[in-house]
Amino acid sequence: MYDFKIAAADKATLYRDLASALESLVADEPDAIANMANAAALIWESLPDLNWAGFYRNVGGELVVGPFQGRPACIRIPFGQGVCGAAAATLQVQRIDDVHAFEGHIACDAASNSELVVPIVEDGQLIAVLDLDSPKVARFDAEDEAGCVKLAEILARAL
Ligand code: SME
Repeated sequence: MYDFKIAAADKATLYRDLASALESLVADEPDAIANMANAAALIWESLPDLNWAGFYRNVGGELVVGPFQGRPACIRIPFGQGVCGAAAATLQVQRIDDVHAFEGHIACDAASNSELVVPIVEDGQLIAVLDLDSPKVARFDAEDEAGCVKLAEILARAL
């Protein structure tokens, strides 16, 4: 049984504990779907104010939904479309305070107001994106971005 209790008072500690839990969850497991599924569940359990947490995978140059927590979501997203597609096309983190002000945002859940999308890249190739949505405007700050980049680095080695 895994029983991670991650509830730190400050974000630096929260993300350090989260990274350490993720490292141990994916250690020695080569199956990418299993690792994405456990990562989505761990993030969902550990970070407050999320309404979606999960992955879109690069399947032949198109994003296809992967393991996630939250409401059923859009299945396929072309590179360059929406926040996830922008992250996939540019390999740059997209941290969006107000998704309604983002040209081309794809609304999978009307409750979403802010979004953080982190590309997972190995040897210059996009493997997947980690996508977090929140009903709170400007839910994600620079510390969330840095913490999730670290999680993406761990996942790049595990997917
Ligand atoms: N809002 C995303 C689509 C994926 S859902 O948020 C799960 C986008 O604009 O790419």
